[in-house]
Amino acid sequence: MKIVLGVSGGIAAYKAAEIVRHFQERGVQVQVIMTAAAQEFVRPLTFAALSGEKVITGMFGSAAEQPNLDSAVEHISVALSMDCLLVAPATADTIAKFAQGIANDFLSTLYLAATAPVVVAPAMNVNMWQHPATQANLEILRGRGVRIVEPGRGYLACGMVGAGRLAEPEQIVAATLERLGVTQDLAGETVLITAGPTHEPIDPVRYLGNRSSGKMGYALAEAALRRGAKVILVSGPTALQPPSAAEIIFVETTQQMRTAVLDRWERASFIIMSAAVGDYHVKTVSPGKIKRRGALELQLEPNPDILADLGSLRHATGKPSPILIGFAAETENLLENAHAKLATKRVDAIVLNDVARAGIGFNSDRNEVSILTASDVIHVPEASKQEVAQKILEAALRLRQEHSATVLAPSSKVDL
Ligand code: CTP
Repeated sequence: MKIVLGVSGGIAAYKAAEIVRHFQERGVQVQVIMTAAAQEFVRPLTFAALSGEKVITGMFGSAAEQPNLDSAVEHISVALSMDCLLVAPATADTIAKFAQGIANDFLSTLYLAATAPVVVAPAMNVNMWQHPATQANLEILRGRGVRIVEPGRGYLACGMVGAGRLAEPEQIVAATLERLGVTQDLAGETVLITAGPTHEPIDPVRYLGNRSSGKMGYALAEAALRRGAKVILVSGPTALQPPSAAEIIFVETTQQMRTAVLDRWERASFIIMSAAVGDYHVKTVSPGKIKRRGALELQLEPNPDILADLGSLRHATGKPSPILIGFAAETENLLENAHAKLATKRVDAIVLNDVARAGIGFNSDRNEVSILTASDVIHVPEASKQEVAQKILEAALRLRQEHSATVLAPSSKVDL
């Protein structure tokens, strides 16, 4: 998801830095465009450093003067690549240009070229805000479907008190994501997610592993971040780029994954165990590379079941929190096996994956799952792992609502 943030020239331009940070906490890519006036208040370097993206500061100029521009029609390529244009702060001048279709700088030209949704967060002096010209221009924009994030009332930079203060950065970010259909229903929550395979060493160069790519777990982490959650991602070895806004713990073995999860599970309000955890480890790991000579026997010992341990630990607290969701990778007797896991691991839901089917599940970008709870089976038809992740999070939130009134009977202390 890419947001283009247009910063126009007002004293509130510095608050745009906080807006960039909030988007990044949600794993959203931001590219900043500054008007000439905005550059009188904040240096482009601030936004370049924060966003990790080049900042567009103008329309024209030689390559030496304007090294930011990739091509002569960059306003078109930016317009096509963005999911949303947000302007914050939007001055009276920028709003007037948008309303009247004046395209005399990069930002106003981009607005005309944009087909993506547009969100505008105005900030100005109270008299400028109340002026019939500004209000008429805003009405024109509203009529075109532009979402206006109303300014707040308060002490203004000009010394006057009234409406015109830029809305809070958090509120602007939430309104923008909401315009894109991403609600902030996980704000304030911590979601712990496990992802990828585990590797159990055989000798210094070999390991026992499985075909999990980690894509489902990483998609869950990204989706939870976007919905406002803090994310703890415990990841086995994968080739994926981890979401930078998550707290990430890289592990290799089941034992390391277990330690990482048990050290952190009490901070989480939701735990989703999508990792394909190795069920066995080699009893004696060879300190040197095992040389080739005839048949080789490896003695395997069972690994602990992290999810079942969490189920027991939570049960011992007598509280329905955190919501616990496991996955079931099955090739036969799918529903029956998944129901058995739901019960024996004492979890709230099992996401059933048919790993025998080609094109979905392991190592694929798509998935088709069923989400089993004690009372329900929700079928999620084949979709991208991002879309499936959203459905799993929605189910998690529903479970929390259902469980909020329930209190499990505490059992005796569990020693793991
Ligand atoms: N799991 C776990 N620890 C293990 C094995 C599995 O925490 N040692 C978790 C997985 O992350 C997943 C769920 O338990 O959320 C089910 O994993 P799966 O591999 O489908 O089942 P297993 O319990 O290993 O049972 P089996 O391999 O016999 O199907």
